[in-house]
Amino acid sequence: TGLVTVDPGFMNTASCESSITYIDGDQGILRYRGYPIDQLAEGSSFLEVAYLLIYGELPSPSELEGFVTRVNRHTQVHEDFRTLMGTFPRSGHPMAGLASAINGLSMFYPESLDPHDDEQVDLATVLLLAKTRTITSYLHRRRVGEPLLFPDYSHGYVEDFLRMTFASPYEKYEVDPVVVDAMEKLLILHADHEQNCSTSTVRVVGSSNANLYASVAAGVNALSGPSHGGANEAVLDMLEKIRSGGETVASFMDKVKTKQDGVRLMGFGHRVYKSYDPRAAIVKKHADAVLSKLDAKDELLDIARGLEEIALSDDYFIERKLYPNVDFYTGLIYKAMGFEPAMFTPLFALGRMPGWIAQWREMMKDPQTKISRPRQVYTGATEREFLPVSLR
Ligand code: CMC
Repeated sequence: TGLVTVDPGFMNTASCESSITYIDGDQGILRYRGYPIDQLAEGSSFLEVAYLLIYGELPSPSELEGFVTRVNRHTQVHEDFRTLMGTFPRSGHPMAGLASAINGLSMFYPESLDPHDDEQVDLATVLLLAKTRTITSYLHRRRVGEPLLFPDYSHGYVEDFLRMTFASPYEKYEVDPVVVDAMEKLLILHADHEQNCSTSTVRVVGSSNANLYASVAAGVNALSGPSHGGANEAVLDMLEKIRSGGETVASFMDKVKTKQDGVRLMGFGHRVYKSYDPRAAIVKKHADAVLSKLDAKDELLDIARGLEEIALSDDYFIERKLYPNVDFYTGLIYKAMGFEPAMFTPLFALGRMPGWIAQWREMMKDPQTKISRPRQVYTGATEREFLPVSLR
């Protein structure tokens, strides 16, 4: 069987070759298909970036229009699907709701399940981009006990998502363009990040030829953990605890540095970035603008800034190359927009959807792909004889 190397957490194992996303963790560089993340965040739209990630090139105006039209056509969900979502406990965590709903899509769209039929895969691609948006807004509406709203594609993808999430059924909805723009940027910043935990999960599940919905639903579950996407919710929880616990920023940081009760500075650190996460830099820049525009002065922002300031000049963090990651400031923006913390990670998932799809599709076309099946080094008992229970 040859020599097997143990590599917990895949610290030094490349699971695939990929031409989608490039990261240089030492220099803090992130590019989708060669385009720098700051340029895409500045000048592109979320669906344009989704097209780029999935099909490899930026769309022409007519290609983009065709793609947007296809997504729009599928934004409505089947009435039975609404009923399915209506059976989820309203107080249950929306990440569980999102994973269950996405998994459920495969029962509603059997004509899009064959992973080796290009047309079916393309249908599943568009359905996932369209339905995840609707599902995410429903998860919020159900939590707050508001009636669900139908999609209206006279608005853009992001604007209509915000309308479906926050509008009153009785009043004309008006959203500040600054908020739409910020949401668009946040989704773009989350759209792909090469072989992270959830994307690797999508690939592992897909490598067994499981369909796209099943693979992506597994990715949503991987994302839910606080070491991964769940960190954005955990950051807010941490900031609230510091505020309400009457604890000073300095005493909290002492706990982190002495690793008391396993406390970590959530929203800090990254397996690949050993310098400032370029996404965090863009988010931080916009946090101020959005919060002041929304007139949402938040003392949690001051606490976050205080934590960052200490961390960036403290030996513990410097030695370990720990910098703020994308999750550090995003929650504060989402909160100012009106989302409750439990919705933060579903918003990450909505943004990551194009990346999961693009990576799954790349894997399915890669002649090198084999079913994922890691080896292990066995450390258990050597052979021993079984004794029936009566003799034990
Ligand atoms: N606070 C305090 N210490 C930390 C932190 C942190 N946030 N992150 C890492 N460390 C320490 C860790 O204790 C270890 O110290 P030592 O060498 O003394 O044992 C050292 O830094 C290396 O940590 P690690 O856990 O071996 O590093 P990793 O690459 O396995 O973990 C991570 C990466 C992101 C899971 C980790 O940094 C972490 O738990 N961060 C907090 C959670 C978080 O913000 N996650 C979001 C990640 S970015 C976006 C996303 O994927 O969703």
